[in-house]
Amino acid sequence: MLKLSLKLGLWIFICILLIETVSMIFLHNNVVHSRIDQELDSLKARGNSHRDVLEMAFDDSTLQHIGLMESQTDTDVVVTNSAGEVLLTSKEINGGMEQVLDHSLSQLPRQGVILQSEWNEEEYIATVTPYETVTDNGYVYMFRDTENVKAFVSQLNRHFMLASILIIFFMFITIFLLTKALTRPLILMKEATRKLSKGDFSVSVPVQSHDELGELAQSIQTLANDLNHIKQERNDFLASISHELRTPLTYIKGYADIARRTNLSPQERTHYLQIIGEESERINRLLEELFYLARMDQNEFLITKERVRLFPFLHSIYERVLPAFLNKNIQLHLDSDHDVYVDIDPSRFGQVLSNILDNALKYSNEGTATTIRAFKKDWNVVISITDQGIGIPDEDLPYVFERLYRVEKSRARMTGGFGLGLAIAKQLVEVHGGSISVESRLGEGTTFTIVLKES
Ligand SMILES: Nc1ncnc2c1ncn2[C@@H]1O[C@H](COP(=O)(O)OP(=O)(O)OP(=O)(O)O)[C@@H](O)[C@H]1O
Ligand SMILES: [Mg+2]
Repeated sequence: MLKLSLKLGLWIFICILLIETVSMIFLHNNVVHSRIDQELDSLKARGNSHRDVLEMAFDDSTLQHIGLMESQTDTDVVVTNSAGEVLLTSKEINGGMEQVLDHSLSQLPRQGVILQSEWNEEEYIATVTPYETVTDNGYVYMFRDTENVKAFVSQLNRHFMLASILIIFFMFITIFLLTKALTRPLILMKEATRKLSKGDFSVSVPVQSHDELGELAQSIQTLANDLNHIKQERNDFLASISHELRTPLTYIKGYADIARRTNLSPQERTHYLQIIGEESERINRLLEELFYLARMDQNEFLITKERVRLFPFLHSIYERVLPAFLNKNIQLHLDSDHDVYVDIDPSRFGQVLSNILDNALKYSNEGTATTIRAFKKDWNVVISITDQGIGIPDEDLPYVFERLYRVEKSRARMTGGFGLGLAIAKQLVEVHGGSISVESRLGEGTTFTIVLKES
């Protein structure tokens, strides 16, 4: 399989090479052509100036003069008369020149024409200019050896070749570095996802660009963090569960050992068996609540909502829990708008409030007060339960809705809590499409606030 960097590099390379080659050929042809055109133009201009001189004074000395001039340069001249006889030549006529002189010439423009321009095939490039004097007329042929041009072109070719090699070399290096830089983030992300799939969630994807690659890296990082968090949560959860189960089981085992002794009075044995019974009951409750939460997680949990008038609903709960509060000498107040309706499953939502009120009762001291408030706000209904209890430390606040989380682990056996009440309450509120939040000040009290849509 071709690697992405290789594929990308190859594509860029081929594209640039094509563009490069086409423009090189274009440039090369242009340079060569303009050089040849320049040569031909100057050749023609020279021929024209010879003609002018000849037309001014057509005699042997002028011819000789022209011949002498041309023998000093790298161009050559041949002057013929109307009969085609050669009157002057600056160099002995050879095969290549004869070929040019053999051209039959008809009516020519005064400024002359190019007779031969194929520099790469012929020995000479040549022009011809007609002249006219009172005695005769004829032609001035100008020649330039193509050796020079050929040498120039081959020099040009060498330069072009060198430039091409350099360009290809640098292009190679640039493309190599570029594709490496482009594909490096992808390779890092591939590594990261491979690690993730192997269950190692401690990956970090150090891609910080602000483009699509950066976004992808960010998503992978978020996924990794979430998975890591879930893994951590699961481990904590299992640790908590085994701890929760171990404590009552230790009691059960201990008291069972004692109850087996033969020297016990029936009252003592009954007492120990009762403790065993209570602890088994505790385990049972824990398992039931966990099962309840698990079912909510699986979305197997259906609620049947109905339109409920809030005040009577809250009042019935108030009346149900009031004796327990009074028993602990805690006042309980209910302050609710009368004309508020909500869509709830009364028994499930009742459980939410029971769990919160249960906490208010458990974590408040005698002589305090707890208040249930319910009112409309915008298009929502806000239900709050405020106690004057012991409060929750700031560092624990974010976790109180987590399963099996308790602020003071040692307090649990005294109050009998598992740390599941609020987790269940939160799940249930969310199933109702609402939200729950908590505010607390240590030593002053706690407020739980539930926000639901008004019906
Ligand atoms: N009103 C409150 N005042 C002070 N602390 C509270 C209050 N409500 C909850 N907490 C703290 O938050 C923790 C989690 O509450 P949660 O109701 O989930 O568990 P729990 O009451 O300990 O056990 P469970 O409700 O399962 O019997 C509690 O252990 C307690 O420390
Ligand atoms: Mg509780």
